[in-house]
Amino acid sequence: MILVTGGAGFIGSNFVLEWLAGGGEPVVNLDKLTYAGNLANLASLEGDVRHRFVHGDIGDRDLVERLLAEHGVRAIVHFAAESHVDRSIHGPEDFVATNVVGTFRLLEAARKHWGGLTGRDRDAFRFLHVSTDEVYGSLGPQDPAFAEANQYQPNSPYSASKAASDHLVRSYHHTYGLPVVTTNCSNNYGPFQFPEKLIPLVIHNALAGKPLPIYGDGMQIRDWLYVGDHCAAIRRALAAGVPGEVYNIGGNSEKPNLEVVQTLCAILDDERPRADGGPYADQITYVTDRPGHDRRYAIDARKIARDLGWQPAETFATGIRRTVRWYLDHQDWVANVTSGAYREWVQKHYA
Ligand code: NAD
Ligand code: DAU
Repeated sequence: MILVTGGAGFIGSNFVLEWLAGGGEPVVNLDKLTYAGNLANLASLEGDVRHRFVHGDIGDRDLVERLLAEHGVRAIVHFAAESHVDRSIHGPEDFVATNVVGTFRLLEAARKHWGGLTGRDRDAFRFLHVSTDEVYGSLGPQDPAFAEANQYQPNSPYSASKAASDHLVRSYHHTYGLPVVTTNCSNNYGPFQFPEKLIPLVIHNALAGKPLPIYGDGMQIRDWLYVGDHCAAIRRALAAGVPGEVYNIGGNSEKPNLEVVQTLCAILDDERPRADGGPYADQITYVTDRPGHDRRYAIDARKIARDLGWQPAETFATGIRRTVRWYLDHQDWVANVTSGAYREWVQKHYA
């Protein structure tokens, strides 16, 4: 079996669904079900004996040790994290608790479990740590894209907590020999993304006739990757990544936020025209910038292409239309997650 942490969140649930659809081994899915975790993402697995959901915290070492031993886990794919930059600015403590302390405890449990394995089981064991490009800091307009050897310069409490977790993971390989592989990926989009993040938030607000908030001048650049491509890259890194190595994952798709929002508006104009016939772009509203907002991210993904043969299958043009259609077809999912707690967040952050 494999242990997936955070498998009820956005990327984790896409990973679990695709892993099992592709004939992967059974999954133990450990998730705390924070506001970002949603079992509805996994509804299609109901009754599927290959998926065992466990409601719990990665920081609960006894629980993790028990799961690893009970299920003879041969790999951990570690997604669980607090993942939203704006929330880390409002309240960084949960980010330290889960991303730093939680990852540390998970590593300790993994070290104990791996220490008890022998022969081929020991050689085959992997700890795959899912991280972010944000640990590298912010690029100027002409700077080369982030490569694996770039210096770490995290700028938000979120990216600092992820950077700390990356360092702990690295140290467990260097010091104890734990067979870890780390991936640092750019911005994902696709089904099941909580509508606090730019793309699902804009789709949701557009349809609800609400403002589409652009932080600052909207010229911050992100490198967008369809979530299915990220999951495929993780599967490759798990199968063939070299222990101790880091792989950057990106979509070769740098776009300023304003262009992303305008693209979403144009697709919605086409797929679901406004009742009054006006363009959704009329709802674009410039709001106060995010404190410490990173200006540009870009990923140099040549290493994973060269060493593991991974390339993204979706372009931004194909992936974003597919994503808009998914949200249009799953308005019940959106209604379900935009509950009371979600409305409180919007009130607090955008007021
Ligand atoms: P998400 O916020 O959608 O999901 C996180 C999941 O982790 C949720 O299901 C939540 O319930 C669970 N969780 C949180 N704290 C936990 C704890 N203490 N114990 C167990 N479960 C816990 O996040 P996401 O966007 O799917 O990101 C997944 C991972 O990928 C994160 O590590 C993130 O840093 C990384 N990442 C995300 C992106 C992106 O664009 N979303 C890009 C690169 C890397
Ligand atoms: O780069 C990878 C990272 O991408 C992941 O590690 C994070 O978990 C993930 O949340 C994402 O971080 P960002 O901060 O880049 O994503 P977000 O969707 O929050 O914002 C994308 C850009 O859009 C960013 O420049 C901020 C801007 N933005 C965001 C929101 C929510 C707006 O202009 N308005 C908004 O309302």
